[in-house]
Amino acid sequence: MNVTVRGRTRQYRTVTFDAKRNRVLLIEQRLLPHQFKIVATKTFRETAAAITDMVVRGAGAIGATAAYGLAQGALMFRGADGKKFSRHVANVFKTLADARPTAVDPVNAMNDVLRAMRRGDSVAEKQSIALAAAEEFANEDARHCREIGAHGIQLIRNGMRVLTHCNAGWLAFVDVGSVTAPMYAAQAAGRKFHVFCDETRPRSQGATLTAWELAQQGISHQIIADNAAGHLMQRGEIDLVIVGSDRTLGRTGEVANKIGTYTKAVLAKRHGIPFYVAIPLSTIDWNLKRGFDIPIEDRHESEVLGAWGVTEGQRAERGSQKNGKRTYVRVANPGSGARNPGFDVTPAELIAGIITPAGIFKPTELWKRRRELGFIV
Ligand code: MRU
Repeated sequence: MNVTVRGRTRQYRTVTFDAKRNRVLLIEQRLLPHQFKIVATKTFRETAAAITDMVVRGAGAIGATAAYGLAQGALMFRGADGKKFSRHVANVFKTLADARPTAVDPVNAMNDVLRAMRRGDSVAEKQSIALAAAEEFANEDARHCREIGAHGIQLIRNGMRVLTHCNAGWLAFVDVGSVTAPMYAAQAAGRKFHVFCDETRPRSQGATLTAWELAQQGISHQIIADNAAGHLMQRGEIDLVIVGSDRTLGRTGEVANKIGTYTKAVLAKRHGIPFYVAIPLSTIDWNLKRGFDIPIEDRHESEVLGAWGVTEGQRAERGSQKNGKRTYVRVANPGSGARNPGFDVTPAELIAGIITPAGIFKPTELWKRRRELGFIV
């Protein structure tokens, strides 16, 4: 998408690859919206650490990062011994897959790369296929988001007020975003609408990332405290909810997404507001049989007990943090601990539809349509 920093506009993808230097290039999302910076990871271990530390985050974006990381790791191998190469690649795969557990996209993306690598005979062939397959995954992620936009546009009518949670915009993917794709398509069609961004504590991806993206694209929006959505729904100020997903079960239609999503789905049901989930095909898990079995990431308590931001009075000017100081402040009672589950699971019955690149389906229809939704036996 286009990014304007200090008056200069350029197109970026969230994640790209520098093939000459074997580096994965990432937008440093922890600094946004105060500073826009690209960082390069030099090894697959650094790439995995960037996923764990949330330099890059969001299901599709960490999927593409893992695919590039797998190619990067494969390309780091020296020699022609096929068995040693396979053992090395298995180790790279595990390191990247373990970086964050809830989103299924990294594993699905790396499986795509591994499947493609089987076509190569020599180590050198497999290495170059790995990179081409990672590029293909990244391109497909961007294509899927555009297709989600083409289907999802019908949901956004003139004058609507749309609620979203966390960030499933282009920063959470390679480009365009899943939740934002219908919004960008509606904007291009000249429709006027307003977006409420849940702040999304504890890491505030809604207040920092979604709000920054929408501001960059000139879409009318406001940030609301996580607890405000019920009140706005009760007053008839929200017409539609669209969220993303880190793992959607193809067999049951259950949706794992950022903590707080389930609460919003319950509220939406209570108020008769349609609740949609927008996903590329790499977010579907065709194996797990129940949402309860989705591994839910438990994150560090410091995220709940305090917050990161830029100091008041030295605030970032025109997209640069040059004059501000990024700092962590402790908010909670000293001595109190915290529990910090990163995700929750929304049952199918609360979801009006899943917006996919192949169309909008009821969550329980996914399994019946598995062939057109890319299920690989
Ligand atoms: O912890 P994060 O920021 O990686 O969580 C991912 C998310 O932003 C959300 O859960 C999002 O709605 C789905 S990811 C496309």
